[in-house]
Amino acid sequence: MSPPDRYALFGQPVSHSLSPRIHRQFAEQTHQELSYEAIEVAPGQFARSVAEFFSSGGRGLNITLPHKLSAYALAGRLSARAQRAGAVNTLLAEPGGRVLFGDNTDGAGLVRDLLFNLQARISEQRVLILGAGGAARGILAPLLDQKPRELCIANRSPERALMLTGLFADLEPVRAATPAELKGTQWDLILNATSASLSGEVPQLSAELLGRGCLCYDLAYGRGPTAFMRWAQLHGAARTASGLGMLIEQAAEAFEIWRGVRPDTAPVRALLMTELGEP
Ligand code: ATR
Repeated sequence: MSPPDRYALFGQPVSHSLSPRIHRQFAEQTHQELSYEAIEVAPGQFARSVAEFFSSGGRGLNITLPHKLSAYALAGRLSARAQRAGAVNTLLAEPGGRVLFGDNTDGAGLVRDLLFNLQARISEQRVLILGAGGAARGILAPLLDQKPRELCIANRSPERALMLTGLFADLEPVRAATPAELKGTQWDLILNATSASLSGEVPQLSAELLGRGCLCYDLAYGRGPTAFMRWAQLHGAARTASGLGMLIEQAAEAFEIWRGVRPDTAPVRALLMTELGEP
């Protein structure tokens, strides 16, 4: 019997990653024979590790921090959305094995989580993104595709927000705003795409920005609500959510790219949300 097809996550750190559990559950559910493991890869080893993985028969990789830009540089062919995001989180070897195809499923995962799991609207909504790093860049085009009324980027260092909006200037209606410019504005959806939650911090934010019915969504997740979710709950946000749903949805999207079959995310989401104590 031939060994199962091999998949893996490359990142650093990856020891706490939920991706192996998510993909194994998808595989079981869709009756796919495959293995999926999380592998710690140091930045200096990334290109060599990717080459070794695929030359030894590996079928597909998920890429997480800090390697998404390196994966982008390494891919011989890119999906349109990876090109827009400037980052790759999914790699697969094209038939023949020579060229690596790079895709980015993060933004699609976020949009699916918002629309289908949380029944949130994006279209015609006022959307505020906090942060202007890689995470923010990855979600911009998929959010703009949903035609929000406004999409504004606010960042601790305002010049980075301006730089980011410059990259998407052809897609309306994206703009950057300084804290002073945000004064007096209200938002329906606030997305925390900063890395502040990773250190238990909350970006400086006025509670006045929370519109009626505002959903505060943290792209990060952890055990229990993140610091941003706790801040939002304390200041009267109608709803909060972590990025756990996005993680599961981006995984489903990658799984479909690799295996040609779409797993049902609902049971995986229910299980992990209970485990992580999310309501
Ligand atoms: P990532 O790829 O996760 O987005 P990054 O490119 O390093 O990582 O970007 C991190 C983002 O989080 C930046 O927007 C950063 O703000 P600055 O550009 O001003 O550095 C933001 N960030 C990190 N810690 C923060 C904090 N404590 N408060 C507010 N913003 C923070």
